[in-house]
Amino acid sequence: MSRSADDIRREDSSVSAGASLPEGSAAASEAEGGKIENCILGPRRVMSDPAISVRNVSVSYGGRSILRNVSFDIPRGETLAVMGLSGVGKSTTLRCLVGLQRPDKGEIYIDGKNVLELSEAEFDKLRKRIGMVFQMPALFDSLTIGENVAFGLREHTKLSEQEIQRVVAEKLAIVDLQGMAHLYPNQLSGGMQKRASLARTIATDPDVILYDEPTTGLDPILSMVINELICSLQRRLKATSVVVTHDIKGAMLIGSKIAMLHKGEFVWMGTSEEFRTSSDPIIEQFREGRVSGPIRVQ
Ligand SMILES: Nc1ncnc2c1ncn2[C@@H]1O[C@H](COP(=O)(O)OP(=O)(O)OP(=O)(O)O)[C@@H](O)[C@H]1O
Ligand SMILES: [Mg+2]
Repeated sequence: MSRSADDIRREDSSVSAGASLPEGSAAASEAEGGKIENCILGPRRVMSDPAISVRNVSVSYGGRSILRNVSFDIPRGETLAVMGLSGVGKSTTLRCLVGLQRPDKGEIYIDGKNVLELSEAEFDKLRKRIGMVFQMPALFDSLTIGENVAFGLREHTKLSEQEIQRVVAEKLAIVDLQGMAHLYPNQLSGGMQKRASLARTIATDPDVILYDEPTTGLDPILSMVINELICSLQRRLKATSVVVTHDIKGAMLIGSKIAMLHKGEFVWMGTSEEFRTSSDPIIEQFREGRVSGPIRVQ
């Protein structure tokens, strides 16, 4: 029995976007001898206005304060890696950016527009330019991998079937799943599902990509494969991104900046090199994985 697009979408919380990737091969980044070479830093376009600007955002659930006056800017084409203890509000931050959670107060600007003031129609239009990769791959089980990747293209573009198939093949090749379009999600390993989920997110060429723990649950080698894939996507798409991760190596590799969320606030932000050498007690504790320190596990 076939399901409508709405039926399928209801079962999935993924948000995608609109067009096709520039040409270019994926280049792996290096992480050697404990010093992580950041894949984004180096010569890049000089951007003035931030693509994402979060101003004094506060969120509480049932009177329990989670985010308190959070503010940060992400210039266009850059990636912010967000770290912090479990339950500190990292996913909540992403949910605010994609409109799944309305803050109690504050402003969120994407490309200069305060998303909290947009009409539903305007926000829907913006949301098509935002891709979100959820922690769980959240693929549609009843659709093949190819159909999963094509889903957003069918929904949001007027591409011909031939063009859709071309884009699907291109995206699957980027994530190293070429020739696997006919398989169903349950025929793939967890790591392959993560890659398929990435392909689906980038199918429509989003301007903003939000990744929620893209490597959680994966072995260290597969984690690095996914991290390198994200790096190469960032280089190719020039998307503005937020990557929520517990993977320190990954954050140092991917993030133009790394931010630490602690007790509802962004208490530290710096480059990967600053993170590596910081003597801030919170950063030291998190970096070294120490039990004692200012971060207390509840
Ligand atoms: N819809 C909700 N209703 C009530 N409480 C919620 C809701 N969503 C999240 N919370 C609570 O808010 C806090 C922050 O949740 P969030 O999912 O943002 O944490 P996180 O930093 O992403 O954690 P993790 O690293 O474990 O994924 C948690 O204590 C969580 O239980
Ligand atoms: Mg989370």
